[in-house]
Amino acid sequence: MHIDVFTLIPDTMQAYLDASILGKAQLAGLIGVELHNIRDYASDKHRTTDDEPYGGGGGMVMKPEPVFAAVESVLGEAMGSVPVIMLTPQGRVFTQQVSRELAEHPRLALICGRYEGIDERVREYLATDEISIGDYVLTGGELPALVLIDAVARQIPGVLGDQCASERDSHATGLLEHPHYTRPPEFRGWQVPEVLLSGAHARIAAWRREQSLLRTLHRRPELLRLAEITDEERKLLDDASRDSEGSSSA
Ligand code: ADE
Repeated sequence: MHIDVFTLIPDTMQAYLDASILGKAQLAGLIGVELHNIRDYASDKHRTTDDEPYGGGGGMVMKPEPVFAAVESVLGEAMGSVPVIMLTPQGRVFTQQVSRELAEHPRLALICGRYEGIDERVREYLATDEISIGDYVLTGGELPALVLIDAVARQIPGVLGDQCASERDSHATGLLEHPHYTRPPEFRGWQVPEVLLSGAHARIAAWRREQSLLRTLHRRPELLRLAEITDEERKLLDDASRDSEGSSSA
């Protein structure tokens, strides 16, 4: 998987990409992330990348020419076959499902906006997709691009040491993940649940599944509508709901 990122502040992204799992994945050749400075593609003497909005109002708008020049020159012949994704709060909302969908592509291009926005012609005639990481507004698309790269990279076989780790993640199964513990078995009087110390793999798996179901019920009940749950598990959840209703009205 190769990802080209177009930004005005590439230095801000480099440290995160080079660290830990993403850094190792790049060294292993499993992913390649290339940062391109949009300013390098501005053609005027001052290398201008923004201008005042037509129609007035505050703030500056990113000019279309350097953005088109950057993406067209880097993608070249690949234009048309590579998704060109603009990070914007107006895009479709990023989820685990979207990260899986994007991980199927061999190459992605990400455009990070700054200022008040990007000239609308970039959205209309250059971008093929628009993604938002949530209903809040950031000062630019760089953090959203890092979020997207991180979540997509984890889907690529070999990126996580443990092949199955991304399949167990919160959201991957449609449920939130079970709690995790490590040594010591007692910390400040707080004990690790006994079952996890038992070495009984089937009991541990059953406990984790139950925790995962109950966590999802208590924190994100709306996820349960789409999750794959057995009849027995559905009954467990119904009982748990009734219990918590009973205790809250008591
Ligand atoms: N740029 C600014 N805010 C954003 C958001 N929430 N998602 C994607 N891009 C953005």
